[in-house]
Amino acid sequence: MKKVTVVIVAIVSVFLWNACTPVKSGGQQDEIGQKVEDLLAQMTLEEKVGQMNQYNGFYDATGPAPSEGDAKNKFEHLKKGWVGSVLNVRGAKQVRELQKMVVENSRLGIPLIFGLDVIHGHKTLAPIPLAEAASWDLEAIKKSAEVAATEASAVGINWTFAPMVDISRDARWGRVMEGAGEDPYLGAKIGVARVKGFQGEDLSAPNSIAACAKHFAGYGFAEAGRDYNTVDISTSTLFNVVLPPFKAAVQEADVKTVMNAFNIMNGVPSTGNAFLQRDILKGKWGFNGFVISDWGSCMEMIPHGMAADLKEAAMIAANAGSDMDMESYAYVKYLADLVREGKVSEDKVDDAVRRILRVKFELGLFDDPYKYCSEEREKEMLYHQDHQDAVLDMARKSIVLLKNDGGLLPLDKKQSGIAVIGALANDKNSPLGSWRIGSDDNTAVSVLEGLDKYCNYKYAKGADVAVGDVSFTYDVTINETDKSGFAEAIALAKKSKVVVMVLGEHGFMSGEGRSRANIDLPGVQQELLEAVYKVNKNIVLVLMNGRPLALPWAAENIPTIVEAWQLGTQSGNAIADVLFGTYNPSGKLTMSFPRTVGQCPIYYNHYSTGRPDVKKEVFWSHYTDEENSPLFPFGYGLSYSKFEYSDLKVDDSDSNNIKVSVKITNTSNIDGEEVVQLYIHDKAASIVRPVKELKGFEKITLKANESKTVEFAMTEKELGFYDIEGNFVVEPGAFDVMVGTNSQTGLSGSFDLK
Ligand code: GLC
Repeated sequence: MKKVTVVIVAIVSVFLWNACTPVKSGGQQDEIGQKVEDLLAQMTLEEKVGQMNQYNGFYDATGPAPSEGDAKNKFEHLKKGWVGSVLNVRGAKQVRELQKMVVENSRLGIPLIFGLDVIHGHKTLAPIPLAEAASWDLEAIKKSAEVAATEASAVGINWTFAPMVDISRDARWGRVMEGAGEDPYLGAKIGVARVKGFQGEDLSAPNSIAACAKHFAGYGFAEAGRDYNTVDISTSTLFNVVLPPFKAAVQEADVKTVMNAFNIMNGVPSTGNAFLQRDILKGKWGFNGFVISDWGSCMEMIPHGMAADLKEAAMIAANAGSDMDMESYAYVKYLADLVREGKVSEDKVDDAVRRILRVKFELGLFDDPYKYCSEEREKEMLYHQDHQDAVLDMARKSIVLLKNDGGLLPLDKKQSGIAVIGALANDKNSPLGSWRIGSDDNTAVSVLEGLDKYCNYKYAKGADVAVGDVSFTYDVTINETDKSGFAEAIALAKKSKVVVMVLGEHGFMSGEGRSRANIDLPGVQQELLEAVYKVNKNIVLVLMNGRPLALPWAAENIPTIVEAWQLGTQSGNAIADVLFGTYNPSGKLTMSFPRTVGQCPIYYNHYSTGRPDVKKEVFWSHYTDEENSPLFPFGYGLSYSKFEYSDLKVDDSDSNNIKVSVKITNTSNIDGEEVVQLYIHDKAASIVRPVKELKGFEKITLKANESKTVEFAMTEKELGFYDIEGNFVVEPGAFDVMVGTNSQTGLSGSFDLK
């Protein structure tokens, strides 16, 4: 048996909480810094404030856009140079028109920066980010962001409002589809990969765009998973769970922008939160990009109960370090007066404008304001075959095999008697997922189209998931009553050898404003599944969903379950490749799947509590009607291969370099990939630590019957944590360690940190 040693050295980069000062004039200025100063010196106060003003384009709205009143002044403000950025403009032609209007009419001709939510692709769509995260493949994730940047930059966009790096533990929240799941360590790694994919090595390159780490901060902790709801978390959770992905995006990937959040943090709306934006982001972390508000979040400080009116909101936001105002019209209407009245110092305005101008210079917009507006490039790059190949690779790697009892999978191409049931199998729109502002509808490869390349099958819809029109902006109407297709589906299942059932959520049932109080199969699909099961138990359930679903009956009864998320343009091809074994599934969940919505929020890296142990009496932390454990845990995913872990070794002789190694053997005759995961538990510390924390992972390929030894090295960066003042501390003591195939299964050891 071949033995190969793979050494993984945890990247050691100690983040010093140095008190960097914001970007200011004076001192050693680089060339761009000097250009910024020269330009700033020429600007009037109104022109400076103009740079801090972002309007929605005239083609799309991703928020409650005012249409009358202030909105009608947009073109006049553009010509006066009172607008720094526009979002939701689509197409090189429209971008060129708006850029021309500003560059050729305003006094200083400062170019606009064009932003768009390029969340998982522009025209060629990758899997939704929660699916991509399940690949644990940082290179593939980075490549996916590069493809998105290439297509977005080809249509005039130079700034994406991505990656969303919000950690979330509550499947009821619709925006879990947009993030990387429940773990801050993995979330940070994925956030860095995505920022680097968007921004490239050189931000001025034609296919690089500025990225945006969002939503700063804590948006994923909305109470009860209800979007925009109150966030009320501890400083320990803020520093140890919420902030690490943002800090990594700033300090490891040099993200150029950060978007603040709709929610309050410790009672103060993020947009008006100087502790978050000035003390931490711009102060301790030394962030030198700019902060964009979320849509209307400046104005929303009024309903939050923070500001009496829009002028006060503008004052609070500007003083708190919110550099650009998205669609509140607060800065453009009041900021100049607030400066004249001495309520906002011009220094703060200058600091914001410096940050904004710097990004525009770094993008090369002053050298050529139209560099992103080539209609030829638009034609050449959109839907390019290279992009199809990249998103197909990403989609395959994102699929998670949850169950395969009895080995129904992989299917045999020569197999006859295959039935396919479920409306989503024939849907070319839903698999594209939510948050696809720039895409074209119905451009996904459907499951049926993917299967066409492999086999003959018979199809029956069974039942629709959604009825009527579906859109990004309005609620999906779910089919709760129409079972007229059941009889045909049941009859087909009865005479078939194996039934592939494609069930789940419509792509627009997750995303912004899409929280669900129930997270089961929507509509009549559970009934359909049980009805088919009654006549044929050989079911391969393919799930298409934007969040963890609670599927206890399916997990108990259905022999084979494949988590196929919403995989984007190449969805059907990726699913077919996995079902027929062309690609051996390798994905692992990055969010726990609950047994029931009553368990939410549920996550692996929870605290122990004082009563964790099972007792005969009722006096321990549990439910009387449900287990504590999830249906499928964080890090879980099967393969067609079988992997065996052995020979765990822990070397704690050097407290600055704790070494852990383990041997993994592929005991099957099928080549496959395994994500080897390293977890620790700091057993006693000055604040309690989670029962498990992911502190390393490596996705390895193992040929049939091959073994490899994977080695991890942990330094203080992996072993320390933030105390309630936000100081990074490393405390000696006893640690448990586990290396395994998911957060619940592996080989355990321990070490002493001296
Ligand atoms: C939305 C979202 C934010 C997005 C912005 C612009 O409300 O919260 O993530 O980037 O507005 O569309």
